[in-house]
Amino acid sequence: MIPTKELQKPVIKTALPGPKAQEIIDADARYVTPSYPRPDYKLVAEKGYGVWIEDPDGNIFLDCNAGVAVCSTGHCHPDVVKAITDQANEFLHLCGTDFYYRHMPELGKKLDEIVPIDGPTRTHFANSGAEAIETALKLAMYHTKRQKFISFYGSFHGRTLGALSLTSSKKAQRLGFGRQALDVVHIPYPNKFRHFATDAPSDEATVTRDVINWLENRVFQTTTPPEEVAGIILEVVQGEGGYVPAPTAFVKELRRICDQHGIMLIVDEVQSGMGRTGKMFALDHHDGVKADIVCMAKGIGSGMPIGVCTAKADIMSWHKGAHASTFGGNPVAIAAAMKTIELLEGGLVANSAEVGAYLEAGLNKLKDKYECIGDVRGLGLMLGVEIVKDKTSLTPDPELRDRIEMACFNKGLIILGCGTSTIRWSPPLILTKENVDVALEIFDAAISESI
Ligand SMILES: Cc1ncc(COP(=O)(O)O)c(C=O)c1O
Repeated sequence: MIPTKELQKPVIKTALPGPKAQEIIDADARYVTPSYPRPDYKLVAEKGYGVWIEDPDGNIFLDCNAGVAVCSTGHCHPDVVKAITDQANEFLHLCGTDFYYRHMPELGKKLDEIVPIDGPTRTHFANSGAEAIETALKLAMYHTKRQKFISFYGSFHGRTLGALSLTSSKKAQRLGFGRQALDVVHIPYPNKFRHFATDAPSDEATVTRDVINWLENRVFQTTTPPEEVAGIILEVVQGEGGYVPAPTAFVKELRRICDQHGIMLIVDEVQSGMGRTGKMFALDHHDGVKADIVCMAKGIGSGMPIGVCTAKADIMSWHKGAHASTFGGNPVAIAAAMKTIELLEGGLVANSAEVGAYLEAGLNKLKDKYECIGDVRGLGLMLGVEIVKDKTSLTPDPELRDRIEMACFNKGLIILGCGTSTIRWSPPLILTKENVDVALEIFDAAISESI
């Protein structure tokens, strides 16, 4: 692991945002679309190194968000920067949809070795998570000759029109866009902290039984015959929906149902993949269950835009011209991805498991201390802290969550909300236990002044 720069604690020297940051925020308000779902606090980045972000006024923040789970190897990891620079000096682009270069088969071969799919695979290259999902949707429709999909409440798969048909984590994502492009039925996600029927805590066996029962005995028997379903799209740890892990029994049940009805099990590892959960893929936590199609983006490129969809080779056997993208498989982005995977295998996945367990233990201590922490959950360095009004009612408290987030920012710690009232921890996977100690001290102080 590359050590972070010597700096140990955030340094906040101006009121936030500082004057230079404010100029950028003002220009942004004038020239940039207002549709971005930015939080109440306003972080402006000028430089990034390791787990640190510096703003234009010289304030330095400890980053426990990593550009929303993207900068897996930390900001500007020197090996990744070198791989990008070396490739930039060779060639930048040659449209892999029409010509050939070594990078696409190299990354395809590497993914073939590591993705949780049985047997030989092939990979389609794109530029974002949503595009990887679009690929998976088209591929499942093409292969099964079916058109319907099953998705989950609380899921997030992107905002392009196909992916949006699946996405359901917030009303704002769909408001104003009318009818959806695809025929998707949403079912509850097996959240044991909030059973979908009672909103009360339950257990893995009960939520598994009840969601599977809902799917098999209601959805399949009424609106959506299974023989018309092309795919079930699963986030093994729901991301934007609140950092909620699915039980192993549930994942196994979905595999059984897909096998029984010829449905594609499409696993969206865009946020949970690439070491984030302490294993290379979140699906690797579930007793060897395999997917038919896996989507990846975010952490695979350490910050370079890349999205990939890997599927069983006999599923990804569509005709020439069926699906392609000018920039997909860009050699600079692939150089970053190859180096990222090397670093992940070289220690960062293990670090995610070890430091993640340490962070989780620290968060659980804060849960014992504060009435407003209802749940601490997740895997590796993908951890969610659900903020509630009190431990008896467990009523979500999004306003308090936002106040805590703001207080953390003002003290130099970057965390971000997800779900209704959850704080997500998705730091770079190079985070150390010393960084965790600093982050938890700030988090503790931020909660104490926000309640
Ligand atoms: C699980 C998941 N799938 C898909 C996406 C869409 O990725 P992108 O924003 O790169 O299109 C996201 C983005 O947050 C995600 O978390």
